[in-house]
Amino acid sequence: MCGIVGYTGTEPAVDILIEGLQRLEYRGYDSAGVAVQVEDGLSIVRRTGKVGELARACEGLAPASTCGIGHTRWATHGTPSERNAHPQCSCLGDIALVHNGIIENFAELREQLAARGHQFASDTDTEVVAHLVEDAYEDDLLAAVRHAAHQLVGSYGLAVTCAQEPGRIVVTRQDSPIVLAHGKDGSYVASDIIAVIRASRDVVVLGDRQFASLDAQGIRYFDDNGEPIEPEFMHVDWDIDVAEKGGYPDFMLKEIHEQPRVVRDTLAGRMVRGVLKIDELGMSLEELQLVDRVCIIACGTSYHAGLVAKQLIESWARIPVTVEVASEFRYRNPIITPTTLVVAVSQSGETADTLAAISEARIKGGKVFGITNVIGSPVARESDGVIYTKANKEIAVASTKSFLGQVVSLTLLSMVLAQAKGKMTVAQTRLLFRELADTAEQIERILSDTTAIEEAAQACKDATSAFFIGRGMGSAISYEGALKLKEISYLHAEAYPAGEMKHGPIALLSEGFPVIAVATQSPVYGKVISNIRESRTRGALIVAVATEGDEEIIKHADHVIFVPKVRDAFSAITVSVPLQLFARAIAIARGCDVDHPRNLAKSVTVE
Ligand code: M6R
Repeated sequence: MCGIVGYTGTEPAVDILIEGLQRLEYRGYDSAGVAVQVEDGLSIVRRTGKVGELARACEGLAPASTCGIGHTRWATHGTPSERNAHPQCSCLGDIALVHNGIIENFAELREQLAARGHQFASDTDTEVVAHLVEDAYEDDLLAAVRHAAHQLVGSYGLAVTCAQEPGRIVVTRQDSPIVLAHGKDGSYVASDIIAVIRASRDVVVLGDRQFASLDAQGIRYFDDNGEPIEPEFMHVDWDIDVAEKGGYPDFMLKEIHEQPRVVRDTLAGRMVRGVLKIDELGMSLEELQLVDRVCIIACGTSYHAGLVAKQLIESWARIPVTVEVASEFRYRNPIITPTTLVVAVSQSGETADTLAAISEARIKGGKVFGITNVIGSPVARESDGVIYTKANKEIAVASTKSFLGQVVSLTLLSMVLAQAKGKMTVAQTRLLFRELADTAEQIERILSDTTAIEEAAQACKDATSAFFIGRGMGSAISYEGALKLKEISYLHAEAYPAGEMKHGPIALLSEGFPVIAVATQSPVYGKVISNIRESRTRGALIVAVATEGDEEIIKHADHVIFVPKVRDAFSAITVSVPLQLFARAIAIARGCDVDHPRNLAKSVTVE
């Protein structure tokens, strides 16, 4: 959600900070700001809106400054405004800091600080930290930040600079990522690797309650007691190009087109001499055999991947599965036993609701397995085992390729469970694996001709509302289709199991109301056709996603988007692609910024 950058070295800081913020902008963008050290103190500029606004305001700012911090903010405490944007300052304006996360005890701290005479200039939880540091400061910024951090309850990634200590930045964290790198021109800190790899591909992910002190010469690391510690370096082998659009008009389209690669990379190395392997599962065959219930916890798109997995696990492994919205999970005293396999699915690996659900599941004695896209993320760290989805960095706020990576990973997990339970033979597993691998090529075919998708989108673009319907696997994928459409085009969309339409939603249908029906070949195909007919009779405009070679569907739909024939179990993989493109085409036709939908952030690190 929010993004932190910091730099101290030999080059002009403002340019480096702005570039870093632009790389982080996808995380949240209602306001942004920088604080740079200048001869007589700190110079601070903050703006609401996108980083471009800040960049314009910073033109000509402090060209000689070589040390500063910056932030993009997605409001949690206090409305999006200049006064609430970061950096936030101490009373004297000589200490400035940027913060990701939430200080849960900020109200109490604010009261205590106010009683000691501190004057507050914003409504943020962050500002109390600046005053705490000011309160504790006695010529040693590191000591003051440590002292302040010890009083905080909540989550934080913090970068602090101070006018009295030229060229110095101090950082710390608790449950919020901080990454550091030192390069030829100085030391860099950010909340995301993407903003530090211009310095070096050997980066350090700061641990909880660790501290780092940066200057132009290097970075020193300390534990919670202030004792020096040796950092663990991690080598980043992906290229900075992943963060660029690669010739596509937007990141969303680029990421949609990366999906064949995601399928291939996620499957790479999984079938070894005919045996399906997920070593990272961290569970023996005996432990897998004992699993008598699977509980999938996730939010948003990741939740929809869980709905797909429920169909697969129940039909292949015959294990009952519940799919739980993570934000509800911990408040309803869920039933988790030592033989429940809890699967936490999260692209970012830092969604607060999912993390809270993981800790609840652990308290209740469940074994937690994570499926995430971000190496070393909190979900990966908090789980007993983890599969990385190999989607690579996903920049567009609307998840596309990470969803596909999740579905493919969950499909593998379903197969492993089915094998362990003796419900799937080795020969069946191999056949399914081959077919699963073939979906990469099938997606390429879908992507090679999108005419029908664009025509359908043109027909629906002026609607105010739309339904997505399907049955079985088609119903699971309908939820994701509807979410994609609403989040990027702001067109109201709802998904229903097709058979539910007649129990209420059908009342909303009128002439031209778009109903997008997933009608691929499956055991319930005939039933879906009946539901389509019910809607069409009431004037609905039908867009059907159907299997190539299906002549029947043409009679029942106004627009048909054909996808290659796959077994029903893999239809979520192929059908999700045209639904992503359909949502994007409508959003573009409506003039929306598909990469930066309003009110949304890429990772939701607050409850
Ligand atoms: O990073 P996570 O997968 O945990 O994120 C969960 C949701 O916030 C996320 O899927 C959200 O719904 C996306 N905007 C969907 O495109």
